[in-house]
Amino acid sequence: MTDYWESTEPGDGRREPRAQRRSDARTQSLNGIWRFRLSPTGAGTGDAFLGEEFDDTGWDEMPVPSHWVLEPFTPLAGGAARSMRGTPEGPLYTNTSYPIPLDPPNVGPDNPTGDYRLVFDGPEGWDAAVLRFQGVDSCAKVWLNGTELGWSMGSRLPFEFDAPLRPGPNVLCVRVHRWSAGTYLEDQDMWWLPGIFRDVELLERPADGIEDFFVHADFDAATGIGTLRVDAWGTDGAICARVEVPELGVHAESGETVTMLVEAWSAESPRLYTGVLRTPGEAVELRIGFRRVEVRDGVLLANGAPLVFRGVNRHEHHPDTGRTLDRDTMRQDVMLMKQANIDAVRTSHYPPHPEFLRLCDEYGLWVVEECDLETHGFIFAGWEGNPPAEPAWRPALLDRLHRTVERDKNHPSVVIWSMANESGIGETFGTMRGYLAERDPARPVLYERDPSYRDSDFFSLMYPSLDELDAIGRREEPRPDGVTGAEDERRRGLPFLLVEYAHAMGNGPGSLQDYWRIMTAHDRICGGFVWEWIDHGFSAVDEDGHAYVMHGDDVIGYEPRGGRFSLHGLVFSDRTPTPGLVELARAYAPLEITIEVDARGRATATVRNTRHDADTSDVVFSWTAESDGVTMGSGSLAVPILDAGAAAVVELPLPAPLHEAVVTVEAALAADAAWAPAGHVIAWGQGLSEGEPPSRSETALPPVSGGVRAAGLVSVGSARFDGATGRLVQLGGIELDGPWLDLHRAPTENDHGQGSLNDIASVWAATGMDRMLQRVDDVSHGDGWLRTRGRTAPSTHPHAVEWTMTWRAEGQGVLLDVDADFVGPWRDTPYQHRDIWVPRLGLLFALPGGMDQVRWYGRGPGETYVDSCEGSRTGRFASSIDALQTPYPVPQENGNHVQTRWLEIEGAGAMRVTGRPEFDFTLRRWTSVDLERASRPAQLVDSGTVWLNVDHRQQGIGSASVGPALPERYRVPRERTRWSVHLA
Ligand code: GAL
Repeated sequence: MTDYWESTEPGDGRREPRAQRRSDARTQSLNGIWRFRLSPTGAGTGDAFLGEEFDDTGWDEMPVPSHWVLEPFTPLAGGAARSMRGTPEGPLYTNTSYPIPLDPPNVGPDNPTGDYRLVFDGPEGWDAAVLRFQGVDSCAKVWLNGTELGWSMGSRLPFEFDAPLRPGPNVLCVRVHRWSAGTYLEDQDMWWLPGIFRDVELLERPADGIEDFFVHADFDAATGIGTLRVDAWGTDGAICARVEVPELGVHAESGETVTMLVEAWSAESPRLYTGVLRTPGEAVELRIGFRRVEVRDGVLLANGAPLVFRGVNRHEHHPDTGRTLDRDTMRQDVMLMKQANIDAVRTSHYPPHPEFLRLCDEYGLWVVEECDLETHGFIFAGWEGNPPAEPAWRPALLDRLHRTVERDKNHPSVVIWSMANESGIGETFGTMRGYLAERDPARPVLYERDPSYRDSDFFSLMYPSLDELDAIGRREEPRPDGVTGAEDERRRGLPFLLVEYAHAMGNGPGSLQDYWRIMTAHDRICGGFVWEWIDHGFSAVDEDGHAYVMHGDDVIGYEPRGGRFSLHGLVFSDRTPTPGLVELARAYAPLEITIEVDARGRATATVRNTRHDADTSDVVFSWTAESDGVTMGSGSLAVPILDAGAAAVVELPLPAPLHEAVVTVEAALAADAAWAPAGHVIAWGQGLSEGEPPSRSETALPPVSGGVRAAGLVSVGSARFDGATGRLVQLGGIELDGPWLDLHRAPTENDHGQGSLNDIASVWAATGMDRMLQRVDDVSHGDGWLRTRGRTAPSTHPHAVEWTMTWRAEGQGVLLDVDADFVGPWRDTPYQHRDIWVPRLGLLFALPGGMDQVRWYGRGPGETYVDSCEGSRTGRFASSIDALQTPYPVPQENGNHVQTRWLEIEGAGAMRVTGRPEFDFTLRRWTSVDLERASRPAQLVDSGTVWLNVDHRQQGIGSASVGPALPERYRVPRERTRWSVHLA
């Protein structure tokens, strides 16, 4: 006989799924400390623990909710309580691979199984009780007072049993299997985390109570009329309940349709009407949001206006507790999202804790809710036996969809049902779609992976390039393989939803603004969802007491490992925002502010309200004019209240005349909002008044081989050079060394790409980019000048950069003109003849370790790259060198600043670098080779030298860890290049 945990059935003995609610029926939480014992096989500890007299005092204590693999407890072999983190028994991370052999629905005998036991006092005076589990990973069997209630799979979904409680002590026993047939349906890219990880509760079921209810609240944008009907069910079918919404004067009966003028619900204006649904036995709270979401003429509309999601994909993650999240953490996610101008969430890839959706209703986020279904690992079987294509699995798939929809159908924030993620193709999607069409026709349906899109109301893809997305916007994309003409015609008529884009792994993603500009240029595209919100890393401490973030590669001795791929969030695992979130906040800004400054210093600001429906009455505007970062004038700005979609042009009262000024207009919240305090900036724009181009020294260049070669030191103005090497060794009072022509950077995750296809970092490694040798061929100097000619190349290879650096005394310092040319093949011969693009073209200096503080004028304050800088303003900034480092949990290139006009470094003396006109810089206490070699931040130690990179250009960061290659325009052109900087 098949064990239940290896059955394709979804469960047994459970109650029908129904809506999550708040009601006056009483509840009793069973969260807390339970007794726990882990066993190596599905048999668990046997049956003894079901007994009333069983002595569990020798068992471990386990908090519920939690994942046992994240909690310290006594291993089977005995000894002291310890955590399993980092071992194969602990949390395991895989992306697409199943951690068990692909032999559905079997999982094999090795199946860690946790027996949980709780003795509790039953509530008094209840008519009847229901026992509810909000989430158990991956399969649970439940007994109450020795009697089996049933079992269930579907980790991120609730299940309930009728609970025949008795007065006094009751014994609740739960057996949880780490692996089950359900595992085959839960192959999401995330940690495998077993346990009772969401709440366990007893719910009173009053006689004459409300078993289930469905709020239908429609809004007609043309008339402003809301239509309300609340259906209610008791245990035996439809019942008559009272519907009261005092604010709307509604006193109706369930099943009755009432209409009245209402304010609509939207993410920007989350207007909720509170009401009550009442029977003699129970009063259920109603939180009603009137809205209509529909696809009309190939465009997604909400309340009659096109809806363009400013979205992110959100997994549930906490660095200590995994997918067990408390309300404050969920609220923090919502706050951070709203503050970053995000207005939509795809609950990748399963229904979240129900509280999160309440917060979305309340604070305003559009939600694409995804069912707990992914069968990605069947790719290893060529999709043979894929559950959506196998009738035996149909009940399990439908069960998951029913439990998703029935639990969350009353949330106005939920606007689209997503049937699954990456689960191939199968007839069952048609059945699922049929159920949705009948049960909830008011919400469109998404499924991305079937190229025919026959069961989806959206055409959708992941990670297209900018060009592909633009073609889709124009409805000119090529026809996918294997679909019929009719299917293709239907698909072309669908709106396009970018379900995942811009892979936020490590330093990145780039091009967020580029994507957003395309998404908003075409009404076919209803927005997109960045992959993803949060890094999935666990807090850990190494043997030396250094904190680090544990990722998939830190599980020692386990294969298949998903490696570092669990870290691809816009916020770090502890929810600290990354520079990527700063960039996204600007791309998703709800107001577009552009500033033009004409030659006479007259400035105008054009403000366009790109919100979905809200006007700008909640916003105040202000302006500032700065010259070289010094404020020349500022004030508030009167902008008329703009309806969604409207724009206004206003003149700025600048002080005249302004030479080379940066003019900034900010839009901030006028008053405290639920999600941010008054003064929170939601949008800004900057314009630059044209100044004179920076002056160039007119001194004629000395002839290339004229001058004298010297052995000792050579002075040029305030600078001194080593006459033999031509290197700068002193600048004013500072001892320094360099420059070296530098082409290397510590690869980012995006530079590593997705393996052999696009791993530019491996090309750099193969061609010695991190060990370039600088040869000096000639040093010559004369009165007030010095010139060095040389060649920078790796050993073994024929490619090189030939360069000339010419120094001249200018003002308080020296002007350096660099002329660099790429010679040789620049291919990784004799391997694959891959083209070598260089990540940077610039100069490296070694400065005294006592340097400490920096000030600069350029983009800031955070790090910027050529394809990720529009979220950072131009201005004057200050920082310590240490604070310039972005602490990516896996060390990689970071902390760059583009478009820098000047940079001042202080500590052991002071120096100033001035661009002609601009440069990129990084400053760190270790080299980029050290940065490349480190696998954890604690391995980065002060080298005693401060390393300054002054780059003509560094390539962008892109999104190639999943996604297209870095667009050509963000690379470093491999061509003869001349540039200049001034050092003083
Ligand atoms: C998608 C998948 C996500 C994640 C992402 C890459 O294919 O849906 O779960 O794996 O790629 O990080």
